[in-house]
Amino acid sequence: MESCRVPHHVLLLFILTFITVPVSAVTTVQVKFNQAADLPCKRKCSREAKWTLYSNGDDAVARCNQTSCRSVKKGFKMSHDQYLKGNLTLTITAADYSKRGLYICECDGTDINDLRLSIETMASSVQINPGEDLQLDLHVSERVEVIYKGGDSADPHGEQICTVDRSSLNCTAEYRPRTSLTNTVLTLRGVKLTDRGVYIIRDTENNEYLHIYAVSVRDQLPWWAIILTVAGLLLVVVLLVMILVYQRKRHPSS
Ligand SMILES: *[C@@H]1O[C@H](CO)[C@@H](O)[C@H](O)[C@H]1NC(C)=O
Ligand SMILES: *[C@@H]1O[C@H](CO)[C@@H](O)[C@H](O)[C@H]1NC(C)=O
Ligand SMILES: *[C@@H]1O[C@H](CO)[C@@H](O)[C@H](O)[C@H]1NC(C)=O
Repeated sequence: MESCRVPHHVLLLFILTFITVPVSAVTTVQVKFNQAADLPCKRKCSREAKWTLYSNGDDAVARCNQTSCRSVKKGFKMSHDQYLKGNLTLTITAADYSKRGLYICECDGTDINDLRLSIETMASSVQINPGEDLQLDLHVSERVEVIYKGGDSADPHGEQICTVDRSSLNCTAEYRPRTSLTNTVLTLRGVKLTDRGVYIIRDTENNEYLHIYAVSVRDQLPWWAIILTVAGLLLVVVLLVMILVYQRKRHPSS
């Protein structure tokens, strides 16, 4: 019986591996927005090879056969020289948000490799004057949420202030009158001092952070305070001059 125990453990490990692998097996290639990306795949094919983007349906984005390679969709390339050597690397010339997702490399009708392309979270810091409009690029117009973390907010996770799905904007009652969406840009009108903080753009479908904005609002003096300060300084100067002139008149010798 003792000899059976080890295979059981191996079996268990084997099962565990298979349970956990599908979640994490897909290698992610992460690039900066608009950078080129290479998705590797290696196999010598006798007939043809193709790459498909899962969210794009069954249509290939690029394919090769023994005579040539062609880009089916703009922005995707495969090299024929490399294809003949068994290198099926897919080159993405500029990674934008529409190119994110799961890519499948196929050779002679068999799946060889699955890879996920993701774009690095962007970070921006924005300084804005009170009363100006704040513009946040959401980058996508489907299944995205905007989370706000106030400067002195007690909630460490922040609060969801808006969601966007199929280009339709849905904000909380507090934000609805001040917000609008144009393409993928969310505008928050008439920024106040209390709007300072962190705005997080999150893709809820892929659970990815797309952009983090740190927003500070300039604590400006109102115009009347500036005028009063300047007038006060002028008054002091005039008084000093008057005192000097008066003293000279009383002691002309000095
Ligand atoms: C290779 O593909 C091209 C078009 O992509 C096609 O015209 C050609 O006939 C194909 N060659 C072979 C051998 O299948
Ligand atoms: C595979 O091909 C890509 C371009 O398609 C190239 O950048 C890469 O160096 C090649 N890899 C090898 C191992 O030759
Ligand atoms: C907007 O969001 C709220 C809460 O998140 C939800 O209850 C409501 O149904 C949404 N409205 C639309 C039009 O999607």
